[in-house]
Amino acid sequence: MTEQIQRGRLIVFEGIDGAGKTTQIELLSKYLTSVGRRVYRTAEPTESVTGGLLRDALGGVSRRTACEMAALFVLDRIFHNVNPVNGIEKMLADGVDVICDRYYYSSMAYQGSETDSTWVKEMNLNCPEIRRPDICIFLDLTPKQSMERINRGRVTHEIYENEEKLEQVRRKFYGVFEDLKDRDRIEVVDAFRTVEQIHEDIVGRIQTL
Ligand code: TYD
Repeated sequence: MTEQIQRGRLIVFEGIDGAGKTTQIELLSKYLTSVGRRVYRTAEPTESVTGGLLRDALGGVSRRTACEMAALFVLDRIFHNVNPVNGIEKMLADGVDVICDRYYYSSMAYQGSETDSTWVKEMNLNCPEIRRPDICIFLDLTPKQSMERINRGRVTHEIYENEEKLEQVRRKFYGVFEDLKDRDRIEVVDAFRTVEQIHEDIVGRIQTL
């Protein structure tokens, strides 16, 4: 009899720009590996052709309407799920935990604040090829704290990186989480603490999965 492989878990990280997702994803990934799990790290926008179109628009190289952005993110997300080589579905089925930097919550917060939010929500949640995460970790920081981090670390800014916009997106994230609280498991984590404190907090929440 062949042994049944236990499915991996889809762990999503969200936060406004500069919230420290990269550092925490790295630490969680190391932790999970150290306790014997296999981990696959991934991010949206992806490295696909659609992901390239999105990065061009995010960097201001090309101009896209809010609806175009929302639709491109959905297309990129579907491919991210179903791609047979290293897609989310394949990884989970192989028993690998997937840690994803941003997912549909970002579409609902960013594109949802620029165009019809119900349309953006339904396109994502009603799509049979976009999986619901096992948990979403939201690293929460005020835009002021976030801009300080962004300005310290980088020279170029993406189109969404200014304080006013970040405030709008953060408020929208809160609204999205309120709306989805009975459907998705969302954990809001205070990201204005030391790296170690935040990491321990996250590990504690993951252990309850
Ligand atoms: P990037 O610099 O790649 O990542 P991060 O800022 O998280 O380190 O930027 C991704 C940008 O894409 C970020 O500004 C949010 C935006 N985005 C959306 O607007 N909608 C989405 O659905 C996703 C996944 C990202």
